[in-house]
Amino acid sequence: MALPNYAFFNGRIVPYSEAKVGVLTHGLNYGTGVFGGIRAYWNQDLRQLFIFRPHDHFRRFLESTKLLRMEFSYAETELTKALIDLLRTENHKTDCYIRPLAFYSDEIIGVRLHDLTPALAIVSLPFGKYVEKDEGSHVTFSSWRRVDDNMVPARGKITGSYINSAFAKTDAQRAGFDEAILLNLDGHICEGSAENIFVVRNGAVMTPPITDNILEGITRQTVMTLLRDKLGMNVVERSIDRSEVYLAQEMFFTGTGAQITAVTRVDYRAIGAGQMGPVTKKLREVFFDTVRSREEKYKHWCVPVYENAFRL
Ligand SMILES: Cc1ncc(COP(=O)(O)O)c(C=O)c1O
Repeated sequence: MALPNYAFFNGRIVPYSEAKVGVLTHGLNYGTGVFGGIRAYWNQDLRQLFIFRPHDHFRRFLESTKLLRMEFSYAETELTKALIDLLRTENHKTDCYIRPLAFYSDEIIGVRLHDLTPALAIVSLPFGKYVEKDEGSHVTFSSWRRVDDNMVPARGKITGSYINSAFAKTDAQRAGFDEAILLNLDGHICEGSAENIFVVRNGAVMTPPITDNILEGITRQTVMTLLRDKLGMNVVERSIDRSEVYLAQEMFFTGTGAQITAVTRVDYRAIGAGQMGPVTKKLREVFFDTVRSREEKYKHWCVPVYENAFRL
């Protein structure tokens, strides 16, 4: 993977090689950091790069920093402006992934969340698929349980808690699956290692509620809106049993990385007909039009980067 050329680091844009930390850094030693994941999509017809829902992503990012008692003077609008500057400096003309990161930067010994100094960085890089088989993934139920809200809140995108996702993902992939589904301590469906989950059964679309130890996904919200407006389907937010997945007609993951990934097999059982179903298919079409700013109704979600974009 090619490294970024620049980083927004502690308030200004610097060459990526200058955005460095020491090995004693608190965030690195104790996982006291939070991060985000945002995509920007290149629209070739408009010759414009659109950041997808940056304000919503930065709002969640700042909420995560609040969970870790970090104090920043930035609001989501300022972070969006900084991101636009960074993307212009990089001069990307392709789909990108954007990584905001906040972490305690003190080089000290001692695990805690108080009397520490937070630092903030944003980087971006060209990016394609995150899940290789996004038209038909084979997933497994992980033997790892999702972290509980009273252990490490899954609602916050906390760097240290991603070891939970990493355990699940590596075990799934080493066993030949594409992804893992994590259950919560009650045995209900939570999410993938970096994706929310939707299940279609008997004409209804279901997804776990935000109180079942999931990340409050921006793509999850986007998909709920698109399903309602474009497919006339209201999503039911409720706890989902493992056996309901086996009996589902369709299943898909949502996430900034995964976008909309069809899940067609779970532990060697076919979901529905064992291939991408009609709801997932239609939703993917609407979703990809939306993120490239081709859907009039949702253009406000797509923030243009370049001033001088023009129609060919
Ligand atoms: C654990 C987890 N769940 C769900 C998601 C999807 O969230 P979003 O749609 O905001 O990218 C992610 C990705 O960031 C994640 O890491």
